[in-house]
Amino acid sequence: MHEDTLKGWEMATERVSIFDTTLRDGEQSPGCSMNLDEKVRMAVQLEHLGVDVIEAGFPIASVGDFEAVHEIAGRVQTATVAGLCRAVTQDIDRAWEALAPARNPRIHTFIATSEIHLAHKLRKTHEQVLKDVERAVSYARSLCADVEFSCEDASRSDVSFLAEVVEAAILAGAGVINLPDTVGYAVPAEYGRMFREVRARVKDIDRIVLSTHCHNDLGLAVANSLAAVENGARQVECTINGIGERAGNAALEEIVMAIKTRGEQLGVSTGVVTEEIVRSSRLLSSLTGMLVQRNKAIVGANAFAHEAGIHQDGMLKSAITYEIMTPQSVGIKHSTLVLGKHSGRHALKQRYADLGYTLAPEELERAYKEFTAIADQKKEIFDEELVAILEDRPPSLESYYHLETFHVTTGTGIKPTATVELRKGDTRLVDSATGDGPVDAAYRAIERITGIAGKLTEYSVKSVSYGHDTVGEAFVRVEFDGVMFNGRAVSTDVITGSVKAYLEALNRAQASLTMRKEQTRATVEEPA
Ligand code: KIV
Ligand code: ZN
Repeated sequence: MHEDTLKGWEMATERVSIFDTTLRDGEQSPGCSMNLDEKVRMAVQLEHLGVDVIEAGFPIASVGDFEAVHEIAGRVQTATVAGLCRAVTQDIDRAWEALAPARNPRIHTFIATSEIHLAHKLRKTHEQVLKDVERAVSYARSLCADVEFSCEDASRSDVSFLAEVVEAAILAGAGVINLPDTVGYAVPAEYGRMFREVRARVKDIDRIVLSTHCHNDLGLAVANSLAAVENGARQVECTINGIGERAGNAALEEIVMAIKTRGEQLGVSTGVVTEEIVRSSRLLSSLTGMLVQRNKAIVGANAFAHEAGIHQDGMLKSAITYEIMTPQSVGIKHSTLVLGKHSGRHALKQRYADLGYTLAPEELERAYKEFTAIADQKKEIFDEELVAILEDRPPSLESYYHLETFHVTTGTGIKPTATVELRKGDTRLVDSATGDGPVDAAYRAIERITGIAGKLTEYSVKSVSYGHDTVGEAFVRVEFDGVMFNGRAVSTDVITGSVKAYLEALNRAQASLTMRKEQTRATVEEPA
């Protein structure tokens, strides 16, 4: 960000480094794996986003991780590239080898410090761990000027031992010390206190940067990270969309926007180009297939959408009534006022104005009445339907096709066949067709029933969740009579989702075609 655009308090505040671990802690979580090319694309976007550190992988963990760190190290221009390794010589060597092409490399080494991990995982004494830390950090430091050391499970560690380990790591040459809440167990006041106590106990602590790294098992990762910042942490480790082990890591977009929006309160700022946030979030979702929930803070589809009449009225008077940050500041063009059954007259009038219609009060009243009647039956009202209402030919929901039942037969050595039953008003219509696959067969059956030919130009099914009962989102783009229409539907069954998505596109086409025909008729019939 250019200095000119900084607010006074931002210039006076301390900078917090943003350490992105989407490609390491994030990528190692279920459903989020990426191939080499995808990781490189993500790293390039992270650099556009302006993060300070990109943790690109755990090189000893696999050949894929090694290659990703190596490739990203060569591509990234300004950000620091970190490679993770245990406090073991062999791991450190492998990380250093992977980081070879980096302009700004960082070795990030770690060992657990909690009694639970020492007793059950490492089976080591305090003395052995202290020796490992001293040996690993000084070895890493002999290779690389920038060394970060993490005390895994710091939040469940005895604070006196933690302070001893931190002091040993600083003495051995670590420049960044990370105190993670590895299992997402801490609560904010307690986690903040741990930072305070470590700062009070450790000599030379002000020579290094303290870092926070929180997991979201109790939904507290962002709150805990901010508590650490309030208690002296100046690096925050986080991931795009909060992906990560189990319930995920602290979400980068939430941390960054909390600091931007409440920086005056927190006394810090970041160097992130916040306008790149949504682009980064969407890229990650498309690369991993892991979509964010609609109501996810900052990047969810509803984050800047308003439906309640009172809120829409407030928004139209002044956006600060219901928005604490602008959609543009995260890279969204504008907020949306969703027209549904909760909307009021003000939003309806505004949407008509956007469509080019200035309504007199009585016209608005009549349109509003029609609109609420339709909104009671339908989730969202589209622009073409609003125009139809205005022209006194409200779209008849009776003209829409609804899926009643369908049946498909498919398998090896047989021609896929589908039988589809649709309802239009009170009429039930049924037909069958064969196709190249079950979805194609179902689409052909719909075409036979409706007599409306559509050309499928885009089709995708994405998994929205993970596991056997995964929910798939089907998306189609269909050309009807030279015009493109989108359809989307979610279902646990991909064929049902695909059929419903197609019907949504078809119904939109129906509404729009009827409208166009009516308009042409009106023009032709109008006396000269
Ligand atoms: O959660 C954790 O403790 C980690 C460390 C390896 C930094 O991811
Ligand atoms: Zn972690």
